[in-house]
Amino acid sequence: MKALAYDAVMAPLGWMGLTEARRKLVRGLAGRVLEVGTGTGLALPGYPDTVTSVTAIDVDAEALERARRRRPDAELVHASVEELPFPDAAFDAVVSSLVFCSVDAPARGLAEVFRVLRPGGELRMLEHVRAPSSGLATAQDLLTPAWKRLTGGCRLNRDTWLFVQQAGFEGVRRVQRLQGMSELIIARRPPH
Ligand SMILES: C[S@@+](CC[C@H](N)C(=O)[O-])C[C@H]1O[C@@H](n2cnc3c(N)ncnc32)[C@H](O)[C@@H]1O
Repeated sequence: MKALAYDAVMAPLGWMGLTEARRKLVRGLAGRVLEVGTGTGLALPGYPDTVTSVTAIDVDAEALERARRRRPDAELVHASVEELPFPDAAFDAVVSSLVFCSVDAPARGLAEVFRVLRPGGELRMLEHVRAPSSGLATAQDLLTPAWKRLTGGCRLNRDTWLFVQQAGFEGVRRVQRLQGMSELIIARRPPH
């Protein structure tokens, strides 16, 4: 989706609570933060002053141009989460909002996030995910092929929490909404 169209579609969702949810997602973070899949940078203005540097990546160069206007002091990098151009343990926290539904290789992406996060560092995610109830999950499975074509890659049925665990993260907090189809995940790279 074009960056301008994305912002237009997101605006009403922002007014309905998504902007506040993005703010809560980054509340209390400090130090060096990496945001993956930043898109047009809708979460970037909300970082608290305790964050000393914001680095944000996306595969969409046009979206990154819009993100630059929202946060001129951020380091914006055209890169995939599946192959992050950063050294091991480079960040104190990693953030994603509405991203892992459209990452082609989520296991690879989360392994990369694990690698660049310092031991003890936090992963904060706000994602729409596969529902826990089998009825809803089956509906998501049925709708996903058409939805993926329509949106250019978004899956409704991604079991993001499973991938987070498999990458080696420890769960800190999970908050499920919309019958489990939306999830806040706070996880941590184990300290040792
Ligand atoms: C639905 S948008 C979310 C954008 C933003 N985080 C937000 O909250 O509005 C998903 C974003 O993930 C990006 N994306 C998809 N696959 C990616 C990958 N492998 N690496 C980095 N970004 C990716 C897309 O380009 C898009 O900007």
